[in-house]
Amino acid sequence: MKKLTVCLTVLLLCSTLMARERKEHDSDVIYDEDKIPHYDLPPLLVTAEGKDVTTPEEWQNIRRPQIMALFSNLIYGCVPKPDSPVKVDFEIRKTDPEFMQGKATRKDVQIRLSNKNCKVDMLSLVFVPNDATKPVPAFMKHSFDNTQSRGFEADTGPFQQGFLRNGWPLGEFFKRGYAFVAVYQGDLVEHNEVEFLHRIYPLFYGKGQSFPKAHEWGVLTTVAWGAMRAMDYLETDDDIDHKRVAIMGHSKMGKATLWTAALDERFAMAISAQSGCAGAALWRRRSGETLEKMVTRFPYWLCRNAWKFVGREDDLPVDQHMLLACIAPRPVYVHSGVQDTWADARGEYLSAYHASEVYRLLGKKGLTSEKSPPAGKAIIKSDVGYHVRKGGHSIEKFDWLSFMDFADYHLKKKK
Ligand code: GCU
Repeated sequence: MKKLTVCLTVLLLCSTLMARERKEHDSDVIYDEDKIPHYDLPPLLVTAEGKDVTTPEEWQNIRRPQIMALFSNLIYGCVPKPDSPVKVDFEIRKTDPEFMQGKATRKDVQIRLSNKNCKVDMLSLVFVPNDATKPVPAFMKHSFDNTQSRGFEADTGPFQQGFLRNGWPLGEFFKRGYAFVAVYQGDLVEHNEVEFLHRIYPLFYGKGQSFPKAHEWGVLTTVAWGAMRAMDYLETDDDIDHKRVAIMGHSKMGKATLWTAALDERFAMAISAQSGCAGAALWRRRSGETLEKMVTRFPYWLCRNAWKFVGREDDLPVDQHMLLACIAPRPVYVHSGVQDTWADARGEYLSAYHASEVYRLLGKKGLTSEKSPPAGKAIIKSDVGYHVRKGGHSIEKFDWLSFMDFADYHLKKKK
């Protein structure tokens, strides 16, 4: 009997761990809602000087710039000013008009960044549906994969069968009249960069500098900067309606997505999938991955100033609802997974909910209930969109379709 009880307990424990996809099993990681500490979010609509923000102009001209400066200097890090200006050139290395049995044209675009220090090439792949008669809206995806070797092979086949995991459902994008753009910033920065000696960094160093300063860019800002250069290219591409480009990404790239959209108002929409800590999730909840866990495993995804707030989240003058608010009035979509507890699904929702205050001030629609919607219900007709899906850390068919529905509604339809 005793043996059976032990076996059952072990089984139960294993299944709970698996169901929750706990990435860390340290006893200090909070996964339960009733263990979340009490916290107060910094106010969105009060200036640093303590004045209430009551008009769109006050938000746009006073409060938003204050918040952006805090994120730039304390969380993600600023893009440094290079001694010699960085030149951005584009070269279409290859064009394939027969991509996917002639459904689309694939362009391999080399983005060349250079100044007197050095030159660096970054690849971007652009897929445009062949049946388009005018410039089309686009999804730009911050991509992990080296797109030269894999990633884009996923097409309508596996997608139709619902098996698609982290591939790209290009067929569905083309059918709905979108171009798809992949940016691979592995050319600019390592996934877990620690040296800062190669790739993009020497371009930006002043004399004698060999490491970013405490307020200068961490990896996520570098990734965001890369997408902005890909946007520079799109502005020159007549096949693309560059005023209707959505930036998107999953996980680490979901974090970069939100920061990219906040930094660069040329992006018309942001879709962040399971971005979690340093993405949509609120720091102060300390649920799942925390600032401490992040800077321990990935010390330079954020700037070094962020380290000062480890264990002191309540002293941060920002929280992540403010990042989402900086994307307003442009539509933003947040996606969570019930079992993706490392990314704190509830914290991602609350962030979107609290950011909605700014959307409303700007005359847009936000989330109205503090309660998370049930799994599988996508909130599309709001400028702050959201869904949580059953399951864990991935982009599934339902997620892709919801992202496209959100874009169809906000980028294509007259509301
Ligand atoms: C790690 C990291 C997360 C990140 C994830 C990913 O789990 O802790 O913050 O989102 O990797 O990018 O897949």
